Amino acid sequence: MASLPITMKKKSCAWLCVLPLILGLLSAGVSSAPSEPNKPCPLEGIEITGGSFQVLKDGQFLEYTCPPGYYPYPMKIRNCKPWGSWSILQTRTKKIVKKAECRAIQCPGPEDFENGDFWPRKRFYNISEQISFHCYDGYNLRGSVNRTCQSTGRWDGHTTICDNGAGYCQDPGIPIGTRKAGRQYRLEDSVTYDCGQGLTLQGSQKRTCMEDGSWSGTEPSCRDSFMYDTPEEVSAAFISSLTETIEGADAEDGYSPGGQQNRKIVLDPAGSMNIYLVLDASDSIGKNNFTGAKKCLSSLIDKVASYGVEPRYAVVTYATEAKAVVKLSDRESSNADWVKQELDKIKYSDHRLKAGTNTKKALTMLYEMMILQESKNDINWNKTRHVIVLMTDGNYNMGGDPVAAIEQIREFLDIGKNRKNPRENYLDVYVFGIGPLVDQEKINALASKKDGERHVFKVKDMEDLENVFFLMIDESKALSLCGIAWGRHKSGRHEAQPWHVSINVIRPSAGKESCKGAVVSEYYVLTAAHCFNVDDQAHNVKVDAGGVQNREVESVYFHPDYDINRKKAEGIAEFYDYDIALVKLKKKFTFTKDLRPICLPCTEPTTRALRLPLSTTCQQQEKELLPEKNVKALFVFEDKNNLMQKEVYIKNGEMKASCERDALKAPGYEKVRDLSDVVTPRFLCTGGSDPQADPNTCKGDSGGPLIIHKKSRFIQVGVISWGVVDVCKRPNRAIPSHARDFHINLFQVLPWLREKLKDEDLAFL
Ligand SMILES: *[C@@H]1O[C@H](CO)[C@@H](O)[C@H](O)[C@H]1NC(C)=O
Ligand SMILES: *[C@@H]1O[C@H](CO)[C@@H](O)[C@H](O)[C@H]1NC(C)=O
Ligand SMILES: *[C@@H]1O[C@H](CO)[C@@H](O)[C@H](O)[C@H]1NC(C)=O
Ligand SMILES: *[C@@H]1O[C@H](CO)[C@@H](O)[C@H](O)[C@H]1NC(C)=O
Repeated sequence: MASLPITMKKKSCAWLCVLPLILGLLSAGVSSAPSEPNKPCPLEGIEITGGSFQVLKDGQFLEYTCPPGYYPYPMKIRNCKPWGSWSILQTRTKKIVKKAECRAIQCPGPEDFENGDFWPRKRFYNISEQISFHCYDGYNLRGSVNRTCQSTGRWDGHTTICDNGAGYCQDPGIPIGTRKAGRQYRLEDSVTYDCGQGLTLQGSQKRTCMEDGSWSGTEPSCRDSFMYDTPEEVSAAFISSLTETIEGADAEDGYSPGGQQNRKIVLDPAGSMNIYLVLDASDSIGKNNFTGAKKCLSSLIDKVASYGVEPRYAVVTYATEAKAVVKLSDRESSNADWVKQELDKIKYSDHRLKAGTNTKKALTMLYEMMILQESKNDINWNKTRHVIVLMTDGNYNMGGDPVAAIEQIREFLDIGKNRKNPRENYLDVYVFGIGPLVDQEKINALASKKDGERHVFKVKDMEDLENVFFLMIDESKALSLCGIAWGRHKSGRHEAQPWHVSINVIRPSAGKESCKGAVVSEYYVLTAAHCFNVDDQAHNVKVDAGGVQNREVESVYFHPDYDINRKKAEGIAEFYDYDIALVKLKKKFTFTKDLRPICLPCTEPTTRALRLPLSTTCQQQEKELLPEKNVKALFVFEDKNNLMQKEVYIKNGEMKASCERDALKAPGYEKVRDLSDVVTPRFLCTGGSDPQADPNTCKGDSGGPLIIHKKSRFIQVGVISWGVVDVCKRPNRAIPSHARDFHINLFQVLPWLREKLKDEDLAFL
């Protein structure tokens, strides 16, 4: 206990003192007030065999890192003691070790298995080793028959259970690595779980058989402190739980550990929802990580909005003090865009000088907001669902145990009081622990525990957490949603363009012509008409999309008013009015995260994507997407199979006329007298050097989409048609300011789009 800081309150000591040894050491160190002058610990003799180490937080901590498939033995984190030496290397069984080493990760074998057997029987299994289960006669197997040890040190699949169905509740099973006490599954019977020495239990320690035939709480697991959840695991578990909360519909098909029917919560139309976002801004999270957390929460707000629900939000940041950035009572607290703006304004420095971690104070602030909302005599109060999302590293060092604040909230919301109507559905507390210093036990204590759901996650770093929120959007239900691209490059910019396709026209005599296009529905790709000759046959046209080459084409539909030769007699060699075509595939696309449609104007999905009222008209959408001014847009440039987004301005206001006038500088148009002979109302104009030097499209870009990126969604407003200067032919020369590009404006060809795509379920307005 010598390392406990003097400033610590009695209460938190009580909390800390019950922690197991390893975690106890860790927490004690984290709790040190940063101002205490500690003797620095030496950096000699602390190396790890087969791995590396780094010093964290000004020398307070030492973190060991091992290559994939290995873990630091006997511990991942050491802390620097006030007297200037590192905490000793001690195994779970308290054996002292001289030097740390990286050991191969293994999965623990089952401690116990009831009513059946498994093979092979070992204490530990190497990565990729398999274990097979079978049940004795009279018992049915639930969960996975075979399980494989994964590189995370966890088994794939689900807990295997042999059940004869004799209990009131089904056998809750023994998750591998845990031990269970209690073999009776009658109403109100309980089972308890524990972990081997040094491992931390995540989930519920005790579960009780309830009247509806399910077990209270959530399935436990035992974790070593080096273990993290992968972004894939977190997003799958979080989204399935969140979906349950938001949609109140059936959960995804498949496994439910209790084996009973999936919980169905019907979101009462008269009910409402509050979402509380609570962000740790203390020293422990750090500035970069704080920015990442803000990004994550923004994605979450987008995600929730994409379900069409409009919860009220509260946003609280905290360190020593808590600060309400958005209050439930704010007039705009249910306006997702406004909440995102407020979130964006938060600065890490808001809490700079008070770097303690007072999680309890933040939660108490939520409690006070709840009291205020209830006192306004809201008749829907007891039908309001509350979702708390807390991001922290779990190392609260002041204010006392935040679990008490959760208890207070549960009490106030009448949750868990009445056994017949426990109202557990009305409160969800999700906790995201970030980084190596997270105390699993503490975050587990704060989070909700519900059957078949997970509410607590431990991720390696903020980057992994950001990935969670990007992955989240990719669930299968959302695949047909238009204009969503969540792929990311290392740079962190959105570069994915899952609707982007290449169209190749093979001409036996004249080689190959290549254009671009955009997937707009299951069967159709939108492109430019000039990519084709009148005598091109559908079987000579192939589409490369979603990593699959040479997809077969059934037919190509030109806009009936397109005729490149129409004005030949007037000396206009090429006339691009209505330069637009639809390519219909023989076999429909199967949408995946890498292949999905872009949004089209004047459709209901676009109204939803823009979060406009459903009564929005086509004209209102046009005003929203193409107001009469310079409008920021983008096109996609393909360079050696890398897609790059290029930002341009559509000159749709005062600069429109001068942009269009430059058309007369195009080769072949020099003799045109009347601009309107070549530039018709069907065109949008980009390029030039004002208000910025726009990048230009090149020949091969023809047919590709001109896109507006709004509210994290992508909406196509144009098709790339032609340009004044072929800048790609002269890469090293300065680009003149008359280098303009012209695109077919989709708002001008809607009757044709509606007619051609009428069977595609696009819900045109
Ligand atoms: C497991 O891995 C160890 C070394 O890491 C090896 O010696 C042992 O043979 C492996 N066991 C099996 C069953 O593959
Ligand atoms: C489980 O593994 C065994 C042996 O590897 C195999 O024969 C069996 O088909 C597997 N069962 C399932 C359901 O995958
Ligand atoms: C809400 O409160 C009213 C009266 O206080 C009660 O009749 C009703 O059952 C409650 N609803 C829920 C969902 O608890
Ligand atoms: C954010 O967390 C990671 C590890 O989780 C750490 O390496 C990094 O230094 C942190 N960033 C800041 C600014 O503290």
